[in-house]
Amino acid sequence: MRRNLFCVSLLLSCNVLLATDSNEVSIGAVLYSEYCQSCHGADKVGLEAFDGNLEALKLRLDGYTENMPDFSGLFSDDEVTAIYGYLVAEDDANGSIQ
Ligand code: HEC
Repeated sequence: MRRNLFCVSLLLSCNVLLATDSNEVSIGAVLYSEYCQSCHGADKVGLEAFDGNLEALKLRLDGYTENMPDFSGLFSDDEVTAIYGYLVAEDDANGSIQ
């Protein structure tokens, strides 16, 4: 899984312009701060129970519930994977990503 995410990050680094860090976690962090932070906050408010399932995240972003906006079609698969990587990485580190 780590290796897959690393490959994805290499692909993403070609498509997403980031000045410094180009790994999937930092890309996910940028996307998160832009699209998710307004509701979920910098500390992932309401995401504590997220079980780290990539498919569940995809369903959620495709308008799975009525409480969250429908992000269907907004993110590429790579970008969803990057957001996922960010959410999981923050869980693992039990702290915030710079
Ligand atoms: C307009 C506010 C809003 C925005 C923007 C938003 N969310 Fe949410 N999100 C919610 C609410 C409210 C819930 C809890 C209710 C529900 O399940 O729909 C939620 C639930 C979730 C859950 C499920 C958590 C669990 O316990 O299973 C995930 C995962 C999630 N959001 C991810 C994201 C991601 C990733 C983004 C950005 C791409 C995002 N959200 C943007 C409001 C928002």
